[in-house]
Amino acid sequence: MSTAPPAAPMPPPRPHLTLIVAATQNLGIGKNGTLPWPSLKSEMAYFARVTKRPPHASPPGTKNAVIMGRKTWESIPPKFRPLKDRVNVVVTSSGRLAGVKPEKAREQGVVVTTSLEEAVDCLRAAGEKGDKSMGDAPTSLPPIGKLFIIGGSSLYRAALDLPQAKRVLLTKIYKEYDCDTFFPLDLEGEEGKRRGWVKTSKQELEEFVGEDIEDTRMKEGDVEFELCMFERG
Ligand SMILES: NC(=O)c1ccc[n+]([C@@H]2O[C@H](COP(=O)([O-])OP(=O)(O)OC[C@H]3O[C@@H](n4cnc5c(N)ncnc54)[C@H](OP(=O)(O)O)[C@@H]3O)[C@@H](O)[C@H]2O)c1
Repeated sequence: MSTAPPAAPMPPPRPHLTLIVAATQNLGIGKNGTLPWPSLKSEMAYFARVTKRPPHASPPGTKNAVIMGRKTWESIPPKFRPLKDRVNVVVTSSGRLAGVKPEKAREQGVVVTTSLEEAVDCLRAAGEKGDKSMGDAPTSLPPIGKLFIIGGSSLYRAALDLPQAKRVLLTKIYKEYDCDTFFPLDLEGEEGKRRGWVKTSKQELEEFVGEDIEDTRMKEGDVEFELCMFERG
């Protein structure tokens, strides 16, 4: 009697992705490789807290991951990168980063991948059990919590095309600036609605980010902005 080979175990589903972006009402996000607006300290602090805070009741040592395109990596001043207390993943078709030796990248807290899908698969494996694929402890990944896509335009576009992209944390900047880089989808416009994006309540935003927000509408200098969250089913 012939017996069928045992079925290969199904890989776990790819984890959800959260895009986090600050954009003007014209969807501008960048200019000349940097942010179009003067430094908004409270908004940057919000970005840091939210991207660092692991999900409630995560195993000890869990870190969130921030996934970014090569130009966004280059837009971070060298002394601030890799972004601390998060696993940094940089997507580049070249598979390597200028100034970072491939064999040293993980030691320096950076994972380099050639596609968004490869980034997510690599982090999914680590999220399951901690990645020991690189052998010794300094180069292995910790258990992974939330996965954030932190830009830029091309990476947001690639992420929005994946069904795992379920959430966008959008800071709406209520002032226009000259921009050369744009968020690829107006979440509240016709296409955003057609693609199922809906603005959530303040309470849902607070639950996801893990902190109370006194007022989602804020002001720094003469720049008003609003913390928002959008989800799709
Ligand atoms: N306002 C915000 O929230 C925000 C957030 C992030 C960035 N920004 C701004 O946005 C600008 C940078 O964004 P950007 O759109 O120009 O560049 P980007 O998306 O950060 O980087 C583009 C590069 O990333 C790689 N890449 C992106 N998607 C890929 C894919 N699916 N597969 C393989 N490689 C991929 C390619 O690198 P290679 O060319 O090496 O192959 C591509 O040239 C800056 O001005 C920055 O300050 C703003």
